[in-house]
Amino acid sequence: FSLPALSLLLPPTTLAALADSWLREDCPGLNFAALAVRSARQAVDFTLKVEVECSSLQEAVHAAEAGADLVLLDNFKPEELHPIAQALKAQFPRVAVEASGGVTLSNISQFCGPHIDVISLGMLTQAAPALDFSLKLFAEGATPVPHSCRS
Ligand SMILES: *[C@@H]1O[C@H](CO)[C@@H](O)[C@H](O)[C@H]1NC(C)=O
Repeated sequence: FSLPALSLLLPPTTLAALADSWLREDCPGLNFAALAVRSARQAVDFTLKVEVECSSLQEAVHAAEAGADLVLLDNFKPEELHPIAQALKAQFPRVAVEASGGVTLSNISQFCGPHIDVISLGMLTQAAPALDFSLKLFAEGATPVPHSCRS
């Protein structure tokens, strides 16, 4: 397959995710983080940022070396997240670090730290409560009866 060709059709995050799942299994020695960054850079112009989801410090370093703007550290426990973010920032202070996965409003403080730039909460959309409301239209001259007054 041609990842650069594919990258014309896909946003960088999708591309990185594809590179992750395909390449990690088939080519374990491949620097897929750098490949994802290069492919994304070919597909987008300079105004867009490239973020790579990484599952280790080594992958994060590969992504940063290849010019990623952001590194996403997803599903890390806080005690793993902060040392990795610190080590990455020591080498690449300009690369932003995003923490994600398992973050809720009650434990978000565990993900805050001096080396974390962005924290994303999937629960904002995935666990958002539904608001039950409706809009009724009445004919001109009709007297609306509130729902609670109907028999
Ligand atoms: C944060 O809270 C959620 C929901 O209770 C939980 O699934 C997750 O494991 C917690 N994360 C940490 C790091 O405590």
